[in-house]
Amino acid sequence: MGSSVLSRIAARVGTPVYVYDVAAVRAQYAALDRALAGIPHHIHYSVKANGNLGLLSALRALGMGADIVSGGELARVLRAGFAPRDVIFSGVGKTRAEVEAALDAGVGLINLESAGELELVAAIARERGVKAAVGIRVNPDVTADTHPYTQTGEKGMKFGVPLDQVVGLAKAIRRDRRLTLRCVGMHIGSQIADSGPYRLGAQKLQVLVEDLRGAGVDSLEFVDVGGGLGISYSSEVALAPEAFASAVGPLAKVTGLTLLTEPGRFLVGNAGQLLTRVLYHKHTGGKEIVVVDAGMNDLLRPALYGAYHEIRVVDPVAGGPEGPADIVGPLCESGDFLGLKRALKGAAPGALLSVEGAGAYSFSMSSHYNSRPKAAEVLMDGDRFAVTRTRETIDDLMRGETPDAEWGTS
Ligand code: LLP
Repeated sequence: MGSSVLSRIAARVGTPVYVYDVAAVRAQYAALDRALAGIPHHIHYSVKANGNLGLLSALRALGMGADIVSGGELARVLRAGFAPRDVIFSGVGKTRAEVEAALDAGVGLINLESAGELELVAAIARERGVKAAVGIRVNPDVTADTHPYTQTGEKGMKFGVPLDQVVGLAKAIRRDRRLTLRCVGMHIGSQIADSGPYRLGAQKLQVLVEDLRGAGVDSLEFVDVGGGLGISYSSEVALAPEAFASAVGPLAKVTGLTLLTEPGRFLVGNAGQLLTRVLYHKHTGGKEIVVVDAGMNDLLRPALYGAYHEIRVVDPVAGGPEGPADIVGPLCESGDFLGLKRALKGAAPGALLSVEGAGAYSFSMSSHYNSRPKAAEVLMDGDRFAVTRTRETIDDLMRGETPDAEWGTS
């Protein structure tokens, strides 16, 4: 990425600002699509990774579907122009209002995660006199070697339907003439570097498909292997799309079903960066501290997961720390850091820094903590850029609030 366009973005839009490189997203999509070329497949972008409307619209233009988990994400993908039939609705706690909105919009698939949810979808389909295509998200009891907070495929976790309950649920779906079971699937976690757990999960799904067919379920069209493909934030080895394809490909081939996959991070993680400016430099207790204008409310991953994001100097200012420094935000928590013990040259006040690998689960997990307006978001493509979300104002922060409480009587 050329520094000059980043400098221009920071000068024009201010900092902190998220910048997403559309060319990098295109390249990731092409790599995955190519790896899956021999397998009938659809790629559904997992919107939770980054729901910026401009980015969504660019992803849609590449031919992807979307994977959503809330009514808010449904509204986003419709606003970005996705066809409702290209939308998969996943999630462990869908509310009545969300399921109603999904059925009214005509989403392509609702992935069920419990018997209670099946009852709700059936009741709403009946009330509305519509049909619904559903899938079952299975808990395959597979362990992926990733951060405990992003493991999802082991038994006892809140996600999915245990393998031994799936046939019973499928039979209940079959008894309802408004519902059709089109898909079974899994999502075993996020930032997974090894293809082994995918292979294992796919083998379990293959046996399950055979069991379902044996029980008379003949409506399946898709098998959904979820997202989770790991990327490289620093020295880790990313999961090669080819390795992913060879782990999950046999499942589609043997069953004759179309493969669905729901990557988020793989597509956008390394396409994004957070630009931030150095405010202060101080020494304390033998340590060097660089205070920047972005913090844990903008990028929570270091504080929440101990996640590592590369930090580099885009526009240096002479001076600053000589040795390794902690790069910290302005918020009132000791966990508010973007990187620890980083050797950065030219990180004196006024310098422009870039926090890399900030395209996924970065802006989307940002908050207003410490009453900080959310950052701006910008798309770049070559040396052009476009602001797709303006920086929030102080009024945005307090929208819907009032100091004059009107007390009810109940
Ligand atoms: N499908 C389902 C059902 C999911 O729950 C997720 C992510 C994905 C697909 C996409 O996973 P990906 O390809 O992006 O790994 N906040 C964490 C990541 C949480 C992932 C949640 N589910 C982080 O910052 O690392």
